[in-house]
Amino acid sequence: MNQTLGIIAGSGALDLFDILEARSLETPWGMPSAPPARVSLGPGDAWMLARHGRPHRIPPHRVDYRANIAAMAELGVTQIVALNAVGSIDPALRPGALVVPDQLIDYTWGRAHSFSDSAEERLEHIEFAEPFSAAVREMLITAAARADVAIHDGGCYGVTQGPRLETAAEIRRLAGDGCTLVGMTAMPEASLAREAGVAYASLCVVANPAAGLAEVPISVEEIHAVLAAAMNRVGALLGALGHE
Ligand code: HPA
Repeated sequence: MNQTLGIIAGSGALDLFDILEARSLETPWGMPSAPPARVSLGPGDAWMLARHGRPHRIPPHRVDYRANIAAMAELGVTQIVALNAVGSIDPALRPGALVVPDQLIDYTWGRAHSFSDSAEERLEHIEFAEPFSAAVREMLITAAARADVAIHDGGCYGVTQGPRLETAAEIRRLAGDGCTLVGMTAMPEASLAREAGVAYASLCVVANPAAGLAEVPISVEEIHAVLAAAMNRVGALLGALGHE
């Protein structure tokens, strides 16, 4: 089957690639965060969507995840790579590390999280034991090797509501639950992609040690600086995806 790649980008990654075309479209769920842009990626291309809008203005709990996934599906996207900034709970994952998680726990609340949302919609109980697509995870890991970019294979992403960062006690609870990463954006994106039949995996960029795990409080400036410094490696890895 011919695959079409989509990338849902947080901040930072939007300027990595040349834009060939931007497509304004409205879905039954409303407008996506920004018009998806077709970008050239290695020898191929991909649809790139700015999760938080362009310019960056939509907080994680206000992103219309349904409109974003519906827009990608309407464009014919069959595989999504999501870029997610995260804090690390596992001390082995240093700021700047790239991680391809294989599990998640959803701690979000109040987000429009399903396409099966009224009696008029078809009721779907998706299977979600493995929340990330094995095929897209494998693509990321292969591309990282090809681009000679270090990557951690596996981890459990705890998805919090935000936009505030966590308390130290919340992070201890997440650690006890088995989370190695914490972020605000993988859900309901991952489950909506599953509902839409789009294969989805996440490439996490570790921005900071999670709350209470470093001597100094988390600085948002530091988060932005770490993410900006990681973008070259993210770009090299994504560029190598186009060589499948
Ligand atoms: N917590 C939640 N989301 C995040 C963090 C964090 O520490 N860092 C970057 N995104």
